[in-house]
Amino acid sequence: MPEAVVAITGASGAQYGVRLVDELLGAGWQVSLIITSAGAINLDLECGITPHDIGERDGVTLEDNNNLAARSASGSARFDAYVVCPASGTTVGKIAAGISDNLATRSALGGVEGETQAHCSP
Ligand SMILES: Cc1cc2nc3c(=O)[nH]c(=O)nc-3n(C[C@H](O)[C@H](O)[C@H](O)COP(=O)(O)O)c2cc1C
Repeated sequence: MPEAVVAITGASGAQYGVRLVDELLGAGWQVSLIITSAGAINLDLECGITPHDIGERDGVTLEDNNNLAARSASGSARFDAYVVCPASGTTVGKIAAGISDNLATRSALGGVEGETQAHCSP
């Protein structure tokens, strides 16, 4: 079963992140979901849902963005896709600069170390 890491960060467009998660689940993927604190604010403002609501979907594992020991933080973990959607300028800038100070940024950089492209969708 394919596995994706999806990070919802604090840019406008939370609905695209939710839609992505639902499409992946519908196609039989497992999703490790990371929602930053700013992402949670926009999820509430734009979609009226909480991280817990989306984390309860079958096939979703809701990760703690502060947990740098989560599996997706490891460059040797094997996920089939890493997507940041929506991607805030802050998170994109950190990834571009190699800064991995939370699980969202660390997972994207860990994916690159493992030679899987990380996709950022602003
Ligand atoms: C309602 C709202 C909308 C925002 N929209 C954007 C946006 O479209 N793009 C962006 O880069 N930042 C946006 N921000 C600012 C980010 O949330 C902020 O830079 C935050 O630090 C990003 O943190 P994160 O990357 O850890 O989620 C928005 C903030 C709020 C409260």
